[in-house]
Amino acid sequence: MKRQPASTRSNGAGQRNGRRPVTLIPGDGIGPEVIGAAVRVIEAAGVAVAWDRQAAGAEAMRRVGTPVPDALIRSLKRTRLALKGPLETRVGEGYRSVNVYLRKTFDLYANLRPTQSFQGVPTPFRNVDLVVVRENTEDLYAGIEHQVTPGVVESVKVITAHASRRIARFAFEYAVRNRRKSVTAIHKANIMKLSDGLFLKCARAVARNYPRIRYQEQIVDAACMRLVTDPQRFDVLLLENLYGDIVSDLCAGLVGGLGMVPGANYGDRGAIFETVHGTAPDIAGKNIANPVAAILSAAMLVEFLGYKSRAARIRSAVEATLRTGRSVTPDLGGTATTSAMTDAIIRAMR
Ligand code: NAI
Repeated sequence: MKRQPASTRSNGAGQRNGRRPVTLIPGDGIGPEVIGAAVRVIEAAGVAVAWDRQAAGAEAMRRVGTPVPDALIRSLKRTRLALKGPLETRVGEGYRSVNVYLRKTFDLYANLRPTQSFQGVPTPFRNVDLVVVRENTEDLYAGIEHQVTPGVVESVKVITAHASRRIARFAFEYAVRNRRKSVTAIHKANIMKLSDGLFLKCARAVARNYPRIRYQEQIVDAACMRLVTDPQRFDVLLLENLYGDIVSDLCAGLVGGLGMVPGANYGDRGAIFETVHGTAPDIAGKNIANPVAAILSAAMLVEFLGYKSRAARIRSAVEATLRTGRSVTPDLGGTATTSAMTDAIIRAMR
Protein backbone atom coordinates (compact mmCIF):
# COMPACT_ATOMS: atom_id res chain seq x y z
CA MET A 1 0.00 0.00 0.00
CA LYS A 2 1.44 3.36 -1.04
CA ARG A 3 1.84 6.05 1.57
CA GLN A 4 -0.38 9.00 0.69
CA PRO A 5 1.61 12.14 -0.03
CA ALA A 6 0.39 15.69 0.66
CA SER A 7 -3.26 16.06 0.21
CA THR A 8 -4.43 18.21 -2.65
CA ARG A 9 -7.89 18.17 -1.12
CA SER A 10 -9.09 19.97 1.98
CA ASN A 11 -9.56 18.12 5.25
CA GLY A 12 -12.57 20.38 5.81
CA ALA A 13 -11.35 21.44 9.26
CA GLY A 14 -12.98 24.19 11.29
CA GLN A 15 -16.14 25.28 9.46
CA ARG A 16 -17.51 28.55 10.92
CA ASN A 17 -21.22 29.24 10.31
CA GLY A 18 -20.95 27.00 7.28
CA ARG A 19 -18.09 29.15 6.03
CA ARG A 20 -14.60 27.69 5.76
CA PRO A 21 -12.05 29.95 7.52
CA VAL A 22 -9.23 30.96 5.19
CA THR A 23 -6.42 33.40 5.95
CA LEU A 24 -6.33 36.21 3.40
CA ILE A 25 -2.95 37.84 2.83
CA PRO A 26 -3.46 40.61 0.25
CA GLY A 27 0.29 41.28 0.18
CA ASP A 28 2.26 44.24 -1.15
CA GLY A 29 2.25 46.29 -4.36
CA ILE A 30 -0.43 44.99 -6.75
CA GLY A 31 -1.32 42.24 -4.22
CA PRO A 32 -4.43 43.93 -2.77
CA GLU A 33 -5.72 44.68 -6.30
CA VAL A 34 -5.38 41.14 -7.69
CA ILE A 35 -6.30 39.35 -4.47
CA GLY A 36 -9.34 41.63 -4.19
CA ALA A 37 -10.31 40.44 -7.68
CA ALA A 38 -9.86 36.79 -6.63
CA VAL A 39 -12.05 37.25 -3.55
CA ARG A 40 -14.81 38.75 -5.71
CA VAL A 41 -14.64 35.76 -8.06
CA ILE A 42 -14.77 33.23 -5.19
CA GLU A 43 -17.83 35.01 -3.81
CA ALA A 44 -19.44 35.12 -7.25
CA ALA A 45 -18.86 31.36 -7.52
CA GLY A 46 -20.97 30.96 -4.35
CA VAL A 47 -18.20 29.46 -2.24
CA ALA A 48 -18.68 30.32 1.43
CA VAL A 49 -15.39 31.45 2.94
CA ALA A 50 -14.80 33.29 6.23
CA TRP A 51 -11.79 35.42 5.37
CA ASP A 52 -9.32 36.27 8.11
CA ARG A 53 -7.38 39.21 6.65
CA GLN A 54 -3.76 39.40 7.76
CA ALA A 55 -0.84 41.63 6.84
CA ALA A 56 2.59 40.24 5.93
CA GLY A 57 5.74 41.47 4.21
CA ALA A 58 6.33 45.20 3.75
CA GLU A 59 2.77 46.12 4.77
CA ALA A 60 3.22 44.30 8.10
CA MET A 61 6.68 45.79 8.52
CA ARG A 62 5.17 49.26 8.25
CA ARG A 63 2.27 48.49 10.56
CA VAL A 64 3.76 46.33 13.29
CA GLY A 65 7.52 46.32 12.66
CA THR A 66 7.86 42.69 11.50
CA PRO A 67 7.19 41.05 8.12
CA VAL A 68 5.70 37.97 9.84
CA PRO A 69 3.43 39.15 12.68
CA ASP A 70 2.37 36.69 15.39
CA ALA A 71 -1.26 37.30 14.41
CA LEU A 72 -0.48 35.94 10.93
CA ILE A 73 1.11 32.78 12.31
CA ARG A 74 -1.81 32.28 14.75
CA SER A 75 -4.28 32.69 11.90
CA LEU A 76 -2.43 30.18 9.68
CA LYS A 77 -2.21 27.68 12.54
CA ARG A 78 -5.98 27.95 12.95
CA THR A 79 -7.10 27.95 9.31
CA ARG A 80 -4.24 25.92 7.76
CA LEU A 81 -5.28 27.55 4.49
CA ALA A 82 -4.43 30.86 2.85
CA LEU A 83 -4.91 32.88 -0.29
CA LYS A 84 -1.88 35.09 -0.64
CA GLY A 85 -0.70 37.96 -2.81
CA PRO A 86 2.94 38.77 -3.55
CA LEU A 87 5.20 40.03 -0.79
CA GLU A 88 8.10 42.43 -1.19
CA THR A 89 11.54 40.95 -0.50
CA ARG A 90 14.61 43.12 -0.86
CA VAL A 91 17.50 41.64 -2.85
CA GLY A 92 20.73 40.97 -0.93
CA GLU A 93 19.61 42.87 2.21
CA GLY A 94 16.81 43.23 4.77
CA TYR A 95 14.62 40.47 6.16
CA ARG A 96 14.58 36.94 4.72
CA SER A 97 11.85 35.98 2.27
CA VAL A 98 8.51 35.65 4.06
CA ASN A 99 7.43 33.17 1.39
CA VAL A 100 10.33 30.86 2.18
CA TYR A 101 9.68 31.32 5.93
CA LEU A 102 6.00 30.35 5.63
CA ARG A 103 6.73 27.35 3.41
CA LYS A 104 9.31 26.05 5.89
CA THR A 105 7.33 26.85 9.05
CA PHE A 106 4.23 25.03 7.81
CA ASP A 107 6.23 22.39 5.94
CA LEU A 108 4.48 23.23 2.67
CA TYR A 109 6.85 21.02 0.77
CA ALA A 110 5.21 20.86 -2.64
CA ASN A 111 4.92 23.84 -4.91
CA LEU A 112 2.56 23.30 -7.82
CA ARG A 113 2.21 25.50 -10.89
CA PRO A 114 -0.17 24.35 -13.61
CA THR A 115 0.96 26.20 -16.75
CA GLN A 116 -1.39 26.27 -19.66
CA SER A 117 -1.78 28.20 -22.94
CA PHE A 118 -4.91 30.30 -23.39
CA GLN A 119 -6.32 31.34 -26.73
CA GLY A 120 -6.15 35.10 -27.18
CA VAL A 121 -2.98 35.55 -25.15
CA PRO A 122 -0.14 36.92 -27.27
CA THR A 123 2.70 34.37 -27.15
CA PRO A 124 4.51 32.39 -29.87
CA PHE A 125 3.80 29.10 -28.08
CA ARG A 126 0.59 27.10 -28.51
CA ASN A 127 -0.96 24.16 -26.66
CA VAL A 128 1.34 24.24 -23.68
CA ASP A 129 -0.17 22.20 -20.86
CA LEU A 130 2.36 21.28 -18.23
CA VAL A 131 2.62 21.24 -14.46
CA VAL A 132 5.69 22.19 -12.49
CA VAL A 133 6.17 20.34 -9.19
CA ARG A 134 8.92 21.96 -7.15
CA GLU A 135 10.40 20.82 -3.85
CA ASN A 136 9.90 23.72 -1.46
CA THR A 137 11.86 23.16 1.72
CA GLU A 138 15.53 22.48 1.06
CA ASP A 139 18.29 22.73 -1.57
CA LEU A 140 20.11 26.09 -1.57
CA TYR A 141 17.00 27.58 0.05
CA ALA A 142 18.03 25.95 3.33
CA GLY A 143 19.59 29.39 3.86
CA ILE A 144 22.88 28.02 5.17
CA GLU A 145 25.39 30.64 4.05
CA HIS A 146 28.54 31.84 5.69
CA GLN A 147 31.68 33.78 5.00
CA VAL A 148 34.76 31.56 5.12
CA THR A 149 37.09 34.53 4.93
CA PRO A 150 36.59 38.04 3.48
CA GLY A 151 35.99 37.59 -0.23
CA VAL A 152 34.98 33.92 0.10
CA VAL A 153 31.45 32.79 1.00
CA GLU A 154 29.81 29.39 1.00
CA SER A 155 26.18 28.47 0.46
CA VAL A 156 25.20 24.91 1.31
CA LYS A 157 22.92 22.82 -0.88
CA VAL A 158 20.94 20.39 1.27
CA ILE A 159 19.18 17.44 -0.37
CA THR A 160 17.66 14.67 1.74
CA ALA A 161 16.18 11.32 0.76
CA HIS A 162 13.09 12.08 2.87
CA ALA A 163 12.25 15.34 1.05
CA SER A 164 13.18 13.93 -2.35
CA ARG A 165 10.97 10.87 -1.93
CA ARG A 166 7.97 12.83 -0.71
CA ILE A 167 8.10 15.39 -3.52
CA ALA A 168 8.46 12.57 -6.07
CA ARG A 169 5.45 10.82 -4.53
CA PHE A 170 3.52 14.09 -4.71
CA ALA A 171 4.34 14.46 -8.43
CA PHE A 172 3.31 10.89 -9.27
CA GLU A 173 0.13 11.06 -7.18
CA TYR A 174 -0.75 14.32 -8.90
CA ALA A 175 -0.10 12.70 -12.27
CA VAL A 176 -2.37 9.76 -11.47
CA ARG A 177 -5.18 11.90 -10.04
CA ASN A 178 -5.11 14.32 -12.96
CA ARG A 179 -4.70 11.76 -15.73
CA ARG A 180 -1.25 12.96 -16.68
CA LYS A 181 0.98 10.70 -18.74
CA SER A 182 4.55 11.41 -17.75
CA VAL A 183 6.80 12.80 -15.02
CA THR A 184 10.16 14.28 -16.02
CA ALA A 185 12.75 14.69 -13.26
CA ILE A 186 15.00 17.65 -14.08
CA HIS A 187 18.49 17.67 -12.55
CA LYS A 188 22.20 18.38 -12.87
CA ALA A 189 23.42 15.06 -11.52
CA ASN A 190 26.20 14.95 -14.10
CA ILE A 191 27.91 17.69 -12.05
CA MET A 192 26.28 17.49 -8.60
CA LYS A 193 26.64 13.76 -8.39
CA LEU A 194 25.89 13.39 -4.69
CA SER A 195 23.05 15.87 -4.16
CA ASP A 196 21.21 15.67 -7.47
CA GLY A 197 22.26 12.03 -7.66
CA LEU A 198 20.31 11.35 -4.43
CA PHE A 199 17.30 13.29 -5.75
CA LEU A 200 17.26 11.15 -8.90
CA LYS A 201 17.77 7.91 -7.03
CA CYS A 202 14.70 8.71 -4.90
CA ALA A 203 12.64 9.76 -7.94
CA ARG A 204 13.52 6.48 -9.72
CA ALA A 205 12.55 4.42 -6.67
CA VAL A 206 9.19 6.20 -6.40
CA ALA A 207 8.62 5.91 -10.17
CA ARG A 208 8.76 2.11 -9.90
CA ASN A 209 5.50 2.24 -7.91
CA TYR A 210 3.70 4.01 -10.78
CA PRO A 211 4.20 1.82 -13.84
CA ARG A 212 1.42 3.58 -15.77
CA ILE A 213 3.13 6.96 -15.63
CA ARG A 214 6.11 7.30 -17.97
CA TYR A 215 9.17 8.43 -16.03
CA GLN A 216 12.00 10.29 -17.73
CA GLU A 217 14.97 12.43 -16.75
CA GLN A 218 16.56 15.50 -18.31
CA ILE A 219 19.54 17.64 -17.42
CA VAL A 220 18.32 21.10 -16.48
CA ASP A 221 20.14 23.07 -19.19
CA ALA A 222 18.92 20.75 -21.96
CA ALA A 223 15.45 20.79 -20.45
CA CYS A 224 15.37 24.61 -20.64
CA MET A 225 16.29 24.46 -24.32
CA ARG A 226 13.63 21.83 -25.04
CA LEU A 227 11.04 23.77 -23.09
CA VAL A 228 11.39 26.68 -25.48
CA THR A 229 11.69 24.58 -28.65
CA ASP A 230 9.16 21.86 -27.91
CA PRO A 231 7.17 22.67 -24.76
CA GLN A 232 4.25 20.44 -25.79
CA ARG A 233 6.41 17.38 -25.07
CA PHE A 234 6.37 18.07 -21.34
CA ASP A 235 3.71 16.98 -18.91
CA VAL A 236 4.56 16.91 -15.16
CA LEU A 237 8.00 18.34 -14.31
CA LEU A 238 9.65 17.30 -11.05
CA LEU A 239 12.37 19.59 -9.73
CA GLU A 240 14.43 20.51 -6.70
CA ASN A 241 13.85 23.94 -5.18
CA LEU A 242 16.25 26.20 -7.13
CA TYR A 243 15.79 24.61 -10.56
CA GLY A 244 12.05 24.63 -9.86
CA ASP A 245 12.10 28.33 -9.08
CA ILE A 246 13.89 29.19 -12.31
CA VAL A 247 12.21 26.69 -14.65
CA SER A 248 8.72 27.54 -13.40
CA ASP A 249 9.21 31.18 -14.40
CA LEU A 250 10.56 30.05 -17.77
CA CYS A 251 7.37 28.00 -18.19
CA ALA A 252 5.24 31.01 -17.25
CA GLY A 253 6.94 32.87 -20.07
CA LEU A 254 5.67 30.24 -22.53
CA VAL A 255 2.04 31.08 -21.75
CA GLY A 256 2.13 34.86 -21.51
CA GLY A 257 4.04 35.63 -18.33
CA LEU A 258 3.80 35.52 -14.58
CA GLY A 259 0.44 37.25 -14.60
CA MET A 260 -1.10 34.12 -16.17
CA VAL A 261 0.06 31.32 -13.88
CA PRO A 262 -1.44 30.23 -10.56
CA GLY A 263 0.48 28.63 -7.74
CA ALA A 264 -0.09 26.56 -4.64
CA ASN A 265 2.08 25.23 -1.83
CA TYR A 266 0.86 22.02 -0.23
CA GLY A 267 1.88 20.28 2.96
CA ASP A 268 0.34 17.36 4.78
CA ARG A 269 -1.62 19.69 7.04
CA GLY A 270 -2.38 22.78 4.98
CA ALA A 271 -1.90 24.81 1.84
CA ILE A 272 -1.20 28.34 0.67
CA PHE A 273 -2.53 29.43 -2.71
CA GLU A 274 -0.63 32.32 -4.20
CA THR A 275 0.19 34.40 -7.22
CA VAL A 276 3.63 33.58 -8.56
CA HIS A 277 4.34 37.08 -9.83
CA GLY A 278 5.88 39.73 -7.62
CA THR A 279 4.54 43.00 -6.27
CA ALA A 280 5.02 44.81 -9.63
CA PRO A 281 5.90 48.16 -8.03
CA ASP A 282 5.93 49.80 -11.50
CA ILE A 283 2.16 49.36 -11.88
CA ALA A 284 0.99 49.12 -8.26
CA GLY A 285 -2.02 51.23 -7.34
CA LYS A 286 -2.98 51.88 -11.00
CA ASN A 287 -5.72 49.25 -11.27
CA ILE A 288 -4.10 47.77 -14.39
CA ALA A 289 -2.56 44.55 -12.99
CA ASN A 290 -3.60 41.33 -14.67
CA PRO A 291 -5.78 39.45 -12.15
CA VAL A 292 -5.63 36.06 -13.95
CA ALA A 293 -2.87 34.49 -11.81
CA ALA A 294 -4.72 35.42 -8.62
CA ILE A 295 -8.08 34.24 -9.97
CA LEU A 296 -6.65 30.91 -11.16
CA SER A 297 -4.97 30.47 -7.75
CA ALA A 298 -8.39 31.12 -6.23
CA ALA A 299 -9.80 28.38 -8.49
CA MET A 300 -7.18 25.99 -7.07
CA LEU A 301 -8.31 26.95 -3.56
CA VAL A 302 -11.96 26.42 -4.51
CA GLU A 303 -11.11 22.95 -5.84
CA PHE A 304 -9.15 22.18 -2.68
CA LEU A 305 -12.23 23.09 -0.64
CA GLY A 306 -14.07 20.40 -2.55
CA TYR A 307 -15.95 22.48 -5.14
CA LYS A 308 -14.54 20.94 -8.30
CA SER A 309 -17.24 22.09 -10.70
CA ARG A 310 -17.18 25.67 -9.36
CA ALA A 311 -13.41 25.72 -9.85
CA ALA A 312 -13.93 24.51 -13.42
CA ARG A 313 -16.51 27.28 -13.95
CA ILE A 314 -14.00 29.92 -12.83
CA ARG A 315 -11.35 28.51 -15.18
CA SER A 316 -13.78 28.42 -18.12
CA ALA A 317 -14.77 32.04 -17.44
CA VAL A 318 -11.11 33.10 -17.46
CA GLU A 319 -10.61 31.17 -20.70
CA ALA A 320 -13.65 32.76 -22.35
CA THR A 321 -12.62 36.28 -21.29
CA LEU A 322 -9.11 35.80 -22.65
CA ARG A 323 -10.42 34.28 -25.88
CA THR A 324 -12.65 37.24 -26.73
CA GLY A 325 -9.83 39.61 -25.76
CA ARG A 326 -12.26 42.48 -25.22
CA SER A 327 -11.78 43.12 -21.51
CA VAL A 328 -8.14 42.38 -20.85
CA THR A 329 -5.43 44.35 -19.08
CA PRO A 330 -2.58 46.20 -20.87
CA ASP A 331 0.00 43.40 -20.38
CA LEU A 332 -2.30 41.26 -22.57
CA GLY A 333 -2.62 43.96 -25.21
CA GLY A 334 -5.91 45.39 -23.93
CA THR A 335 -6.99 48.58 -22.20
CA ALA A 336 -9.18 47.19 -19.42
CA THR A 337 -8.57 47.88 -15.76
CA THR A 338 -8.12 45.09 -13.23
CA SER A 339 -11.68 45.72 -12.01
CA ALA A 340 -13.15 45.70 -15.53
CA MET A 341 -11.42 42.42 -16.41
CA THR A 342 -12.68 40.90 -13.15
CA ASP A 343 -16.22 42.11 -13.96
CA ALA A 344 -15.93 40.40 -17.37
CA ILE A 345 -14.78 37.13 -15.78
CA ILE A 346 -17.66 37.23 -13.28
CA ARG A 347 -20.13 37.90 -16.13
CA ALA A 348 -18.67 34.94 -18.04
CA MET A 349 -19.28 32.69 -15.02
CA ARG A 350 -23.06 33.26 -15.19
P1 NAI B 1 7.42 41.27 -10.58
O1 NAI B 1 6.76 39.98 -10.90
O2 NAI B 1 6.83 42.07 -9.49
O3 NAI B 1 7.47 42.19 -11.88
C1 NAI B 1 8.13 41.83 -13.09
C2 NAI B 1 7.40 42.52 -14.26
O4 NAI B 1 6.16 41.83 -14.49
C3 NAI B 1 7.04 43.97 -14.00
O5 NAI B 1 7.18 44.70 -15.19
C4 NAI B 1 5.59 43.92 -13.58
O6 NAI B 1 4.85 45.09 -13.89
C5 NAI B 1 5.07 42.73 -14.39
N1 NAI B 1 3.97 42.05 -13.71
C6 NAI B 1 4.04 41.18 -12.65
N2 NAI B 1 2.83 40.77 -12.30
C7 NAI B 1 1.96 41.35 -13.15
C8 NAI B 1 0.54 41.32 -13.29
N3 NAI B 1 -0.23 40.57 -12.48
N4 NAI B 1 -0.02 42.06 -14.26
C9 NAI B 1 0.72 42.79 -15.10
N5 NAI B 1 2.08 42.87 -15.02
C10 NAI B 1 2.68 42.16 -14.04
O7 NAI B 1 8.95 40.92 -10.24
P2 NAI B 1 10.10 41.83 -9.63
O8 NAI B 1 10.01 43.22 -10.19
O9 NAI B 1 11.34 41.05 -9.83
O10 NAI B 1 9.84 41.86 -8.07
C11 NAI B 1 9.18 42.93 -7.39
C12 NAI B 1 9.03 42.53 -5.92
O11 NAI B 1 8.18 41.39 -5.81
C13 NAI B 1 10.33 42.17 -5.20
O12 NAI B 1 10.30 42.73 -3.91
C14 NAI B 1 10.29 40.66 -5.14
O13 NAI B 1 11.00 40.15 -4.04
C15 NAI B 1 8.81 40.42 -4.96
N6 NAI B 1 8.38 39.07 -5.43
C16 NAI B 1 7.50 38.41 -4.64
C17 NAI B 1 7.02 37.18 -5.02
C18 NAI B 1 6.03 36.50 -4.12
O14 NAI B 1 5.69 37.02 -3.08
N7 NAI B 1 5.54 35.33 -4.49
C19 NAI B 1 7.44 36.54 -6.27
C20 NAI B 1 8.35 37.34 -7.05
C21 NAI B 1 8.82 38.57 -6.63
